[in-house]
Amino acid sequence: MDTTNTIDKLNQILRHEWTGVAQYSQAGFIVTGLWREVYAKMFLGNAEESFGHAKLIGEKISALGGIPTVERNEVKQTSDVLEMLHYGLEFESKAVELYNEALELAEGDRALVVFLEDILKEEQEGVDEFTLLLRDHQVTANLAGASTKAG
Ligand SMILES: [Fe+2]
Repeated sequence: MDTTNTIDKLNQILRHEWTGVAQYSQAGFIVTGLWREVYAKMFLGNAEESFGHAKLIGEKISALGGIPTVERNEVKQTSDVLEMLHYGLEFESKAVELYNEALELAEGDRALVVFLEDILKEEQEGVDEFTLLLRDHQVTANLAGASTKAG
């Protein structure tokens, strides 16, 4: 296993998880209307999951001899709940991609592979959950997409 490359990839993941903490928290803070009752809790739960992953990855980077990043990527902001859900799906899909990339680098280190697989499983559950949520709202989502384009 190439430790330097693995640390770099884990830091890329940590940036993504920090982004999730901020993005999901903001969504939870600002979601309004009838959906607030459902989605404020869900988004804040996702923010906590991202923080949980950030904690695991940050500690692992440190254990491998690296410096855990304090940077994050750009946060996608919207006040539209459907757009929040789309951003959520996009975020979880990107996480699956990053953890898969890290798993390729971790080959040969069984413990690290298992560690990453445990998190990957949760990221995939996130993808599945947002996919199911959005499936029932396809028509509305299309309308939201059209109005975004118009605006
Ligand atoms: Fe995560």
